[in-house]
Amino acid sequence: MMELLIKAMRLEARDIVSLELVREDGGVLPPFEAGAHIDLHLGDGLVRQYSLCNDAQERHRYLIGVLRDAASRGGSRAVHERLRVGQRVTVGEPRNLFALAPGLGRSLLFAGGIGVTPILAMAYSLSHQGRAFALHYSARSVQHAAFLERLEALSARCHFDDGEPLNVSEVLAAEPADSQLYVCGPAGYIAHVLESARALGWDESRLHREYFAAAPVAPAEEGTFEVRIQGTGQVFEVPAGRSITQVLDDAGIVIPVSCEQGICGTCVTRVVDGEVEHRDHFLTDEERLDRMTPCCSRARSGCLVLAL
Ligand code: FES
Repeated sequence: MMELLIKAMRLEARDIVSLELVREDGGVLPPFEAGAHIDLHLGDGLVRQYSLCNDAQERHRYLIGVLRDAASRGGSRAVHERLRVGQRVTVGEPRNLFALAPGLGRSLLFAGGIGVTPILAMAYSLSHQGRAFALHYSARSVQHAAFLERLEALSARCHFDDGEPLNVSEVLAAEPADSQLYVCGPAGYIAHVLESARALGWDESRLHREYFAAAPVAPAEEGTFEVRIQGTGQVFEVPAGRSITQVLDDAGIVIPVSCEQGICGTCVTRVVDGEVEHRDHFLTDEERLDRMTPCCSRARSGCLVLAL
C-alpha cells in the first residue's frame, strides 16, 4: 500500500476524469507493465481497480481514467464527487492480469469506451518495442471519447456510434495468422469482438480480454444454497442477494476481496465438492474445475464445500 498525492484531475470526456497520482516527495513509483491496474482505496472499505493508462516507462506517476457510471456501486461516484487535487489516496501496488503476450507478431488492440485505459498503455509499450500493432477505439460520440489526442498520436482508428461504427470482422479478416487480439470495454463489446474472432477461426490462445465491470444479476434470479467449511464442518445458508463472502464475513470467516465482481481474482477459493455457477471473468475453464470466486459465484444447487 502507498499513500499517493492527487497531483492533477482532468475532464477527458463527458463523464470521464483522469487522475494523476504521484509520490509526495516526487520519487519513483513501483514499476508496472502495460495492462496493469492499481487498487484505489476509497474509504469505508470501498476498493476499486483502475487500469494504468500512461506509458509504463514513466516512473514518476500513475495515470488512471474513471467513468462516472450511472449504475455505480459507489466507486466511480466516490472518485468523481469526493476526490480532489491535493488529496492523498491509498493505492495498492500495480498488478497485471492483462499482460501483452511475448513474441514479435502483430497485435490488434480493441478498446470500447473507458476500456481504452489499459489499451493505451499497451500501445505505448508495443510502440517502444518496435512491434507492429493497430488500435481501434469505439465510443458513443466524440464527446464521450477520452484521450483522443494521445490516441491520435498512436495512429488509432476511432469509431463513433453516431458516425461510422467499427466493422470488427473486416478488421480481423485482414490480419495475419499470428496476430494477437486484446480487447477491453463493456461486456457486450468484448463479447462481440471475441465472437467475431472465433467465427473467423481465431484460436483462444490468441484472444486476450479484460472486463472492467461484470453484468449485474438480479437477486430474483438467484436461489438460496448452503456452503460448508471443510476444516470445521460449519454450514451456512447463502440467501438470494448476498454473496458467499458476505455471509462468511458475518460469521468471522474472512476471505479477502477487492473487486467483488469476479474480475480481480483476490477471493479465489478451492472447491472440494458441489456444483458451482461461475459468474466471474477471471478463472480459466481448467481452473473452474476446482476453484471459484465466492465474491460473486454461487452454487447451481445444494451445497458447496470450500477448502477453508
Ligand atoms: Fe475480485 Fe472476487 S474479489 S474476483
